[in-house]
Amino acid sequence: MLASHKMLGRILDVFRGRPMVVTGTSKLVEGEAKRIDVGDPLGDGFQFLLCRVEGKVYAITTECPHEGGQIVEGPMRDGRYALCPLHMYAFDPRTGRPQGDMCSKARTFKTREVGDECHVWV
Ligand code: FES
Repeated sequence: MLASHKMLGRILDVFRGRPMVVTGTSKLVEGEAKRIDVGDPLGDGFQFLLCRVEGKVYAITTECPHEGGQIVEGPMRDGRYALCPLHMYAFDPRTGRPQGDMCSKARTFKTREVGDECHVWV
């Protein structure tokens, strides 16, 4: 029950314009993308990736702007580009730009890492 209240609080924070807080981000290693689920994945929830590039944490949508694939978590190409395995396009989580300008940009979100947590304006 407590976990449900926490999740509800996080979702309400999103609607209030406050950042979502993701804890444990100090464990995110350089060149890695981690998927974050917000809300009900079978309902109106959504996902984004937290990616560490050159020591900083960036957030990028999982929705690929090419043809509806999903940008996935895991090791990033060259340690800096998040991958969509459908056609192997790669996106820079700092800007959302695809490597080689193959399609439009993926959506990115403002982040601020504070200690072991990351604030994300989704
Ligand atoms: S749908 Fe993502 S690369 Fe084509």
